[in-house]
Amino acid sequence: MKDADEYQKRVEECVSFFHDTAPFSPDLIVQLGTGLGDFGNRVTSERSLPYSQIPHFPQSTVDSHSGNLIFGHLNGKKIAVLQGRFHHYEGYSTREVAFPIRVLSLLGAKTFLLTNAAGGLNPLYPPGTIMVLRDHLNFLGENPLRGPNIENWGPRFPDLSTPYSPKLIKTALDSASHCKIKNVVSGVYVCIPGPSLETPAETRWLRSCGADAVGMSSVPEIIVAIHAGMDVLGLSVISNVNDPDNFEPIILEDIIATTKAMGPKLERLLVEIIGRI
Ligand code: HPA
Repeated sequence: MKDADEYQKRVEECVSFFHDTAPFSPDLIVQLGTGLGDFGNRVTSERSLPYSQIPHFPQSTVDSHSGNLIFGHLNGKKIAVLQGRFHHYEGYSTREVAFPIRVLSLLGAKTFLLTNAAGGLNPLYPPGTIMVLRDHLNFLGENPLRGPNIENWGPRFPDLSTPYSPKLIKTALDSASHCKIKNVVSGVYVCIPGPSLETPAETRWLRSCGADAVGMSSVPEIIVAIHAGMDVLGLSVISNVNDPDNFEPIILEDIIATTKAMGPKLERLLVEIIGRI
C-alpha cells in the first residue's frame, strides 16, 4: 500500500505548509464550479495562492476552472475559497480530486459548501434553476476512500444515510426566500465519469434511477468531507435540460454562459447562507 502511504505523506506536507503560511484555520470551505468563480471577489482576502504554488496540489487542466485558493473573511466567517476543482475525467483518481478537501478538513474546516453546473434531468427544473443537493448517486465507479483507512481522518465505513446536512438545506431554502431568489429547489445529483456527455438512452436511465441533475464533479469531495465529519451543502446550477425524447446538443459554451449569468444570484445566496451558518 505504498500509494496510500505516499498520499498520506503528501497530505501531511501540505497541511504543514498551511500551518506555516495560512492566515487562519478556516471555519468553512467554499468550492466554486464552472463559470461560478467570481464569488471569490466577495470575500475580504487575506491570502490568495495559485494552486501551482501549493505543495502537492493537483493542477486544473480545464480552462473554465481558474485554480486559486483564497483565505478570506465574509460575514464574520473565516473561509477558504477553492476557485476551481479537479475532475476524475482529467485523469485524476477520486482521492486526488478530493485532496484539497482532505487537507482543509485537517486544518479544521467544519463545513463544506460547494457549487457546480449540472444538466437537468427533471423536466420541472429548467435552466437557471438552483438545485440544493438532497442526495446523490456515485456513478464514477471509484470511491476516494478505497484503500487503507486512516483512523485519524475518519471511520472505515462512513454513514451516508444523511449525506447533506438537513439544517444547511433548510438554511439554503430560507436564504433563497429571504433574498427573493426564485427557482431554488432540492433534488438528487448523479455524478458520471464523463468527459463525453450523456446519450439520450443514458439520460433516460439516469432519470429512472431517481436523479434530478447530472454532472461530472463534486461527489468525491463530498464523500471525503463526510468521512472527515464535515457538514455538507451542495448547490447545482442547472445549465441545460436533457430531455431524452427531444434531445438537444449539449454545448460547453452554453453551459458556461448560463452559469455565468446565474453567478450574481448564486453569490447573493451564498453570502446570505454563510451569514446564517
Ligand atoms: N451533463 C453532464 N455534466 C454537465 C451537464 C450535462 O448535461 N451540464 C453541465 N454539466
